[in-house]
Amino acid sequence: MNSSPLIEVDTPKATQVRGSEMEDRINPLSNIPFSSQYYDLLKIRCELPVYDQRERFLQLIEENQVVILEGETGSGKTTQLPQFILYEDLPRLQGKQIACTQPRRVAAMAVARRVSEELDVQLGEEVGYSIRFEECTSPKTVLKYMTDGMLLREAMVDPLLDCYSTIILDEAHERTLATDILMGLLKEISRKRPELKIVIMSATLDSKKFQEYWNDAPLLTIPGRTHPVEIIYSPKPEISYFEASIRTAVQIHRSEPEGDILLFLTGEEEIEDACFRISNSIQPLLSKSEVGPVKVIPLYSSLPPAAQQRIFEPPPPSETPGGLPGRKIIVSTNIAESSLTIDGVVYVIDPGFSKQMIYSPRIRIQSLLVRPISQAAAKQRAGRAGRTRPGKAFRLYTQGAFDTELPVQAYPEILRSNCSSVILQIKKLSFDNLIEFDFMDPPVPESLMRSLELLIYLDAIDDDGELTDTGELMSQFPIDPQLTKMLISSPKFGCSNEILTIVSMLSAPNIFVRPSDSRRSADKAKSQFIHKDGDHLTLLNTYLAYKSKIDVSTWCTENYLNIKSLKFADDVRAQLTRIMEKNAIPLVSTDLNSESCFVNIRRALMCGFFMQVAHLEKNDYYLTVKDNQMVELHPSSCLEQQPEWVLYNEFVLTSRHFIRTVTRIEGEWLLELAPKYYDLENFPNCEGKRILQRMQEEMESNNQKLEKSKNQAENPNANETFLSS
Ligand code: CDP
Ligand code: MG
Repeated sequence: MNSSPLIEVDTPKATQVRGSEMEDRINPLSNIPFSSQYYDLLKIRCELPVYDQRERFLQLIEENQVVILEGETGSGKTTQLPQFILYEDLPRLQGKQIACTQPRRVAAMAVARRVSEELDVQLGEEVGYSIRFEECTSPKTVLKYMTDGMLLREAMVDPLLDCYSTIILDEAHERTLATDILMGLLKEISRKRPELKIVIMSATLDSKKFQEYWNDAPLLTIPGRTHPVEIIYSPKPEISYFEASIRTAVQIHRSEPEGDILLFLTGEEEIEDACFRISNSIQPLLSKSEVGPVKVIPLYSSLPPAAQQRIFEPPPPSETPGGLPGRKIIVSTNIAESSLTIDGVVYVIDPGFSKQMIYSPRIRIQSLLVRPISQAAAKQRAGRAGRTRPGKAFRLYTQGAFDTELPVQAYPEILRSNCSSVILQIKKLSFDNLIEFDFMDPPVPESLMRSLELLIYLDAIDDDGELTDTGELMSQFPIDPQLTKMLISSPKFGCSNEILTIVSMLSAPNIFVRPSDSRRSADKAKSQFIHKDGDHLTLLNTYLAYKSKIDVSTWCTENYLNIKSLKFADDVRAQLTRIMEKNAIPLVSTDLNSESCFVNIRRALMCGFFMQVAHLEKNDYYLTVKDNQMVELHPSSCLEQQPEWVLYNEFVLTSRHFIRTVTRIEGEWLLELAPKYYDLENFPNCEGKRILQRMQEEMESNNQKLEKSKNQAENPNANETFLSS
């Protein structure tokens, strides 16, 4: 690559230039002088381990199309590498951009913000981010952090990803569905675009496997600068990892020297609960001056960005001069495992679990389940404790469990997901033959079959596996095929505006807040929005009420509603509306005061979710249709009685099987609106089937009668003629 004078600005040498000289320097991106913050950050950046490898990296990427880069979390990969390339490429970018993908929205946003500060530009101008339903970029953007899913979407419009000169796939070890597909895609694109540069990055990856896949691409390893971490296992298995986590956090705070704590838990509710419990347990100790003050901070992906930034705040100061030191306790999902680095962590608590997508093609169930993590993940978690000085990792499981029960590496998501939306995307990317697609680990045939089957029933692909016009249209929407099908079918029922709202509400994080200390009041507040026919209509009511209010902030607090989620739903709605308009799909409303309107909406829901239906059997339990899984209504459902037929949005597997977000439907609709799927010949025996069979017979005999009377009306003498001949 051409050496440019700009590079100087970004090398360790630059920090040695005295202040006054530096202040004259002009930011080549914005053409204004650098601020003092720029130089402060530059000093910190130059200390990062990746800086020592800068020349080597630039040389490798100059000489090769693909480079694989491995380096300890916190070594500066995500924030610095793209900048190295940017400065090298600046004189030659010529309208092209650099993309850096992240598996998580939170990471894409947080890193883009940090890098915009480091480059001394406004976030969203030269440095931006793009995540589903949120684009923070401008025509000036040259460096874009984005979720892997968004880059995949872009490939559908720009099949050669021509607007990028370099594409960096970060956190490749996570093997998300989108990253895996992107790898296959980029492999194909790299043949057609020899000038495109590709970097595959990760903290720990199976480098041999990646190198083999990328035709022996060179591997650059960044030596870490981590401190030793002492691993402490539980002597015997814990009965409840949650209780053990709380206990351990409080214990560390009582007895260990200064240093922040990072506790890994699995999801939003659990994390909020833990924060509450930890603060409560420490409060009495604090009032007796037995411990220093704490700041307990949650971190999970649906948290609004401002709240996420709190993890970077310093720990609280001691209450009195010279008193016991304060401590920051961060309770996080595995976002903090490798995507985000929080400095100052000395103690890690690892209960050994995370939420993982599990898919069973046989029974067509996809669910987020709490599962044991891999050994690689456990090592990664422990490593978080040794960033700034020697640390301790408390593993809340036994050494034996680590050795024998944890898988060595994470299992690729593609092998454990429903791939329908991905198949739709690959199809759209004109890989006609899925078998030829170069998957790093191809999904099991049964899973591919199930996904294809779903797409066929939704009319997105035909029996030959070709994308239909409906499928083509569906691939335009950044949401699940089932939601999309329901949306594009809704004008037929005169209610696309209402379905649009429901789809948006389903795409937002949980709307209803239910704090553990005020469950009753929260439930009472929710009861004003309840629609007797189910949760989908309740979501619609809630949204309509929200839109009718002026002071939404107070109103949301009073009614236990998550205002961020509602705003998010509103944004999603605006975006989906634009896609609808672009594709000339009519936006129509039903009269919400007429009785039939809710029937119309419920029928429209059926068009996408006819495969997610359950029937109430005689013994008072629900069986899912076709797969005959025994399920119960989720406790959060607003349905008071148990209707005979219901459709559901989600199957939740815990110790019991639940269906969540449920709405009452009529059995007849199944036969009428999804006759292909409800071909009863292929149904397993159950009460639901017998009832549908009876309905079908009745419908057929009614049709015959209708036909007969029609014939008679048209030709009243037909029978006589026949008899007399
Ligand atoms: O990608 P990798 O884990 O190698 O590191 P990084 O995300 O580039 O972060 C490098 C350093 O930047 C971290 O150690 C943090 O000190 C700092 N950083 C920060 O202060 N705030 C952020 N939002 C991101 C990074
Ligand atoms: Mg990183």
